[in-house]
Amino acid sequence: MLKGKHILVGVSGGIAAYKAAALVRTLVKDGAEVRVIMTPVAKHFITSLTMATVSKHPVLTEFYNPENGDWNNHVSLGLWADAYVVAPATANTLAKMAHGIADNLLLTTYLSMRCPVIAAPAMDMDMWKHPATQSNLQTLQKHGVHIIEPPAGELASGLEGKGRMEEPEKIAAFIERLFVKKKSLAGKTVLVTAGPTYEAIDPVRFIGNHSSGKMGYALAGSLANRGAQVLLISGPTSLPVPRGVELVRVTAAAEMYAAVIERFAGTDAAILCAAVADYTPEKKSTHKIKRGKESLSITLKPTADIAAALGKQKQKNQLTVGFALETDNELANAQKKLQAKNLDLIVLNSLNDEGAGFGSDTNKITIIKKDGTVVTCPVLPKQEVAEIIIDTVVDVMSEKV
Ligand code: C5P
Repeated sequence: MLKGKHILVGVSGGIAAYKAAALVRTLVKDGAEVRVIMTPVAKHFITSLTMATVSKHPVLTEFYNPENGDWNNHVSLGLWADAYVVAPATANTLAKMAHGIADNLLLTTYLSMRCPVIAAPAMDMDMWKHPATQSNLQTLQKHGVHIIEPPAGELASGLEGKGRMEEPEKIAAFIERLFVKKKSLAGKTVLVTAGPTYEAIDPVRFIGNHSSGKMGYALAGSLANRGAQVLLISGPTSLPVPRGVELVRVTAAAEMYAAVIERFAGTDAAILCAAVADYTPEKKSTHKIKRGKESLSITLKPTADIAAALGKQKQKNQLTVGFALETDNELANAQKKLQAKNLDLIVLNSLNDEGAGFGSDTNKITIIKKDGTVVTCPVLPKQEVAEIIIDTVVDVMSEKV
């Protein structure tokens, strides 16, 4: 239910604007207080009288009222709202949102938003498929906007394809889930490791790997959004720190190990997403190694396994989640790791899958639980993958209590 929630609905100019009235009605019925902003073009598709009647408040379109000079303050609307849903979001409005263009009230308000923003795109199938639209959608997802993908079906143009706006009840259900999720980890502390580690060979060289840290940072951000206290222990990355997350920067595997062991006791869960080096040079040269004619050998020694150490010391109420990046015998190897490291969950991503793994903005994962349950997911943006992983973590946490 949405009782007491302030929801701002932004309507842009597409044929699906007629469905915005049903959306507002559903939100009001569910107990929300709703205000509507329409772009000037949206008014060609549905009248402000309809939207004002269903929302029970005057509709906002202009920056000010030309009759009495009243200013429609987008900053205070941004502070008022608990969620901002742009439905329908046309290709034009999505493009402007992605690029920070602010030439109408719907858009200036978007830039002032502090609350979750949800966009329900609606357009013709070719506009949806166009690389410009797809890249704008990716940008918006990176900025934290929740995109409700349009289902396939008959379009206003008469063509069949992806592009029709999701049904109003489904959009309302999505908003409700967002509020439930937000609260689900209040009072919990979660430790996340992310990124690569760099193992020094000499003062200028190191052994590293291609981990970008994107998956771990997305997990940390989603955990914080759900009210958890998040401690992110990160190897070298250039990613922005998600809002509300405490960051500890480390470089080498040994430093990551020390930082995790020091902080684990006070946590409810540890999500070990870092690509920790398995080997480190036995000796670090104090000076830069000079080029020579002979071949050079560097002796490596194994690093301490953080996940395995936590598996040994964890208490009954603590949960550990590991990741496995495999190239062969994926499922069997991941299952072995789950047992060996005494994990509660392991998230498998295979380097054989397109759209999965290092550096990419998407991932394809399989989650394996201790009881043998296997959940397979399609290729999705890392932000959505993070939500699925955390949904599973929340489920397992509630089973532990
Ligand atoms: O054994 P492997 O390195 O494939 O295991 C991967 C999982 O173990 C990941 O969750 C990773 O973060 C964790 N790990 C660790 N400490 C290490 C090596 C891996 O915590 N030294």
